[in-house]
Amino acid sequence: MPNRIKEEIARLKKERGAVILAHSYQPGIIQDIADFVGDSLELSRIAARESAELVVFCGVKFMAETAKLLSPESVVVLAAPDSDCSLAACMTGADLRMMKKKHPGASAVTYVNSTVDLKAETWACCTSANSVEVVNAAPSDEVIFGPDRNLGTWVATQTKKILHIWPGGCHAHSGADIRDLREKRAEWPDAEILVHPESPSVFLWEADEVLGTGGMIRHVEKSSSERFIIGTEEGMIYRLETLFPSRQFVAAGKIVCEDMGFTTPELVLKALESRDDGIEIPSELAEKAASAVRRMTEIG
Ligand code: 13P
Repeated sequence: MPNRIKEEIARLKKERGAVILAHSYQPGIIQDIADFVGDSLELSRIAARESAELVVFCGVKFMAETAKLLSPESVVVLAAPDSDCSLAACMTGADLRMMKKKHPGASAVTYVNSTVDLKAETWACCTSANSVEVVNAAPSDEVIFGPDRNLGTWVATQTKKILHIWPGGCHAHSGADIRDLREKRAEWPDAEILVHPESPSVFLWEADEVLGTGGMIRHVEKSSSERFIIGTEEGMIYRLETLFPSRQFVAAGKIVCEDMGFTTPELVLKALESRDDGIEIPSELAEKAASAVRRMTEIG
């Protein structure tokens, strides 16, 4: 990255009381300029805690919206404004209303990878890091879970609750090919296999651990293994290599979220220069959606 951009980012960040947040799937160059790198849950919490005047979010739209819901006083700008999430697009608030009619006694738990309009219909949100705890805390024996069917199916194996699962999916994780994982395992038979629960079920059956991105970091920290096969978006490999330079990591397959790759240092600079209001949440949805996200942060 040119020094001029690096210096401008540092100067504007100070001048505008800004904080730069980046998800662990972001390109390495963006992880390096961020103040905090983390998983969906950690970044939501940091946005609320920091209450910065300006939050520059390097990730995809639902993440910046979640930060805005928890930190309504901050101006939250998504550095790459076109970066969206294919999974979030799989289910709407109207879809959930239809599910509620079908399962009137069930509470709704919605993965945070979702639109504001879906969150607003929800009892509580969850991330991959706390999905089981949130489902277990629901005030009913039956739970409507969406939009991710792979995460929902995995949660169903970890709880006594009855789940009604919406059949949505992340195009990047869902497209992973199990033959790639088996090939890597044959090359590195001693490696631990860590897989994100958005992956197809066959990946989860062959994993040593099923973990969200933050859980993967915490697991590597306490593991004595030297090598790891990582079943999630490939930006995570850079994150792990940065944190654990003496260990080895390889991707379990080609799991690439194109939208996560949209962010560039130039766009971060542009976000710091912007004077608009950033992410705006329709007022009729804001309080309901925020309460579903807050409930999640209170549970776990
Ligand atoms: P985490 O909740 O593990 O950060 O994952 C977010 C995500 O978008 C997975 O595709």
